[in-house]
Amino acid sequence: MIAPNTLQIIVVGAGLIGPRHAFHITQNPQTELFAIIDPNPNTASIAESFTTLYFPTIEKCMEYCTTNGIACPDGAVVCVPNHLHVSVSAELASYGIHLLVEKPIGSTVEEAKALKQYCAIKNVKVLVGHHRRFNPYIMCTKNNLHRVGEIVAVQGSWMLSKPQDYFDVSPWRKDTVTGGGVLLINLIHDLDLLQYMFGKIQRIYAELLPQKRGHKADEGAALTIKFENGITGTFICSDNVVSPFNFEAGTGENPTIPKHNDISGIYRIFGSKGTLSMPDLTLFHQSKHVESSWTNPVIESPIEIDIEKLPFDSQLDHFVDLIRENVDSPFCSIDDGISALLCIDAVMKSIESGMPVQVADVKSIVPDYEKLGIDKSIFN
Ligand SMILES: NC(=O)c1ccc[n+]([C@@H]2O[C@H](COP(=O)([O-])OP(=O)(O)OC[C@H]3O[C@@H](n4cnc5c(N)ncnc54)[C@H](O)[C@@H]3O)[C@@H](O)[C@H]2O)c1
Repeated sequence: MIAPNTLQIIVVGAGLIGPRHAFHITQNPQTELFAIIDPNPNTASIAESFTTLYFPTIEKCMEYCTTNGIACPDGAVVCVPNHLHVSVSAELASYGIHLLVEKPIGSTVEEAKALKQYCAIKNVKVLVGHHRRFNPYIMCTKNNLHRVGEIVAVQGSWMLSKPQDYFDVSPWRKDTVTGGGVLLINLIHDLDLLQYMFGKIQRIYAELLPQKRGHKADEGAALTIKFENGITGTFICSDNVVSPFNFEAGTGENPTIPKHNDISGIYRIFGSKGTLSMPDLTLFHQSKHVESSWTNPVIESPIEIDIEKLPFDSQLDHFVDLIRENVDSPFCSIDDGISALLCIDAVMKSIESGMPVQVADVKSIVPDYEKLGIDKSIFN
C-alpha cells in the first residue's frame, strides 16, 4: 500500500553505497523505497532486507509499473559504476524520473553535458551527489570563513588505505577507463568542496604519487591549485597509505570508516586575520588589541558546531524539495558536477604533461550524445 504524499524512490545499483541510500530513503517520512534495481542477482537479498521490490533492469521495473497500473517512480538514486552513470541516468530520464546521481556526474565532461541537455528536454531535475556540501562540518566552516579575514591560502589532505577486496569485489575500480582511481572517485569530492567554499579553480599542477598496487588506476596525487580569485592552495590525496588524515576519519560521516577523535587540520584555511582548521573547527587568531605579528601570541578559539542532521538525510530532503519544486535549483547542479570533473581532467592532463593546466570552462564543452544511448533526433 503506497502512502499518499510520499515520493517513490528507486535505488539503481546496490553495491557499496546503494544500500546506504536505500536505508536513508526508508527512514525519511517523505520517501518510500519503491525498488532496488541491479543486474547482480545477489542484490535481490538486499531488496528483501528492505522489504522492497527487486528488478534486474530499469525496463523490468517499468514493465511492472505498467502491468500493475502504477505510476512511474518519482525519483532515482543512481549508484552504478562511474562509467555507467550517464547511460543509466539517461534511461531513467526517458521515463521522466528525477535523478540524484552519485558523483562523479559522468566519466567524461562531454557525456555529462549531453545528459544535462537531455534532462532539460525531458524536464527531469538532477541533483549531483556531492553530499559533503550538506555536511555540518563544511556548513560550519563555510559560515565562519569571514573570521579569517582575507583568505590567502588553503591546504588539505585525503589520505587513507583501501583494502585489496575493495578492488576485487568491484573490478571497475582497478582501471581509470571504467572510472576507477582515487582521483575520480575521491579527490573529486574535495575539489567540489574547495570550489564550493572558495570559488572556481583556474589552474592545477599535479604530480602522481608512486603506484604500489599494480592496477591501472591511480593511487593518488599532490596538487598545487590556483583559484580565479587568487587564493592558492595545496592538496594531497592517496588511497594507499595508512593515515587518519581524511575527511571521513575526521568527521565520522561514513559509518564504515572509524572516526578518529581529536584529529585536526584536514583542511586549513589561512587568512589575513587568522587560520581556520577543520574538522577540529579551531580558529587561530590574535587579539584585536595587538598588531598581527609573529612575536605576538596566537590564540585558539573553538567554533561551535550544530550536528543536527546526517548529510545523506539533508541531501535526500533537498532531493524531495527539488522534485516537489519547493526549491528553484539543486544545491549541486549538473554544471557543478561538470565543473568538479573538469578539475579532475586538469589534474589528469597535468600529470600527463608535467605542466600546470588551465581548468576548462563548462560552457566550452561540446556534448557527446553517444553515451546517452538514446535516439539523438530529440536534439534536432
Ligand atoms: N558519495 C559517496 O561518498 C560515495 C561513496 C561510494 C561510492 N560512491 C559512488 O557511487 C557509485 C557506486 O559506487 P559503489 O562503490 O557502490 O560501486 P559498487 O561496485 O560497489 O556497486 C555498483 C553496483 O552497480 C550495479 N550495476 C552495474 N550496472 C548496473 C546497471 N546497469 N543498472 C543497475 N545496477 C548496475 C553493480 O552490480 C553493483 O552492485 C560510484 O559512482 C561511486 O563513485 C559515492
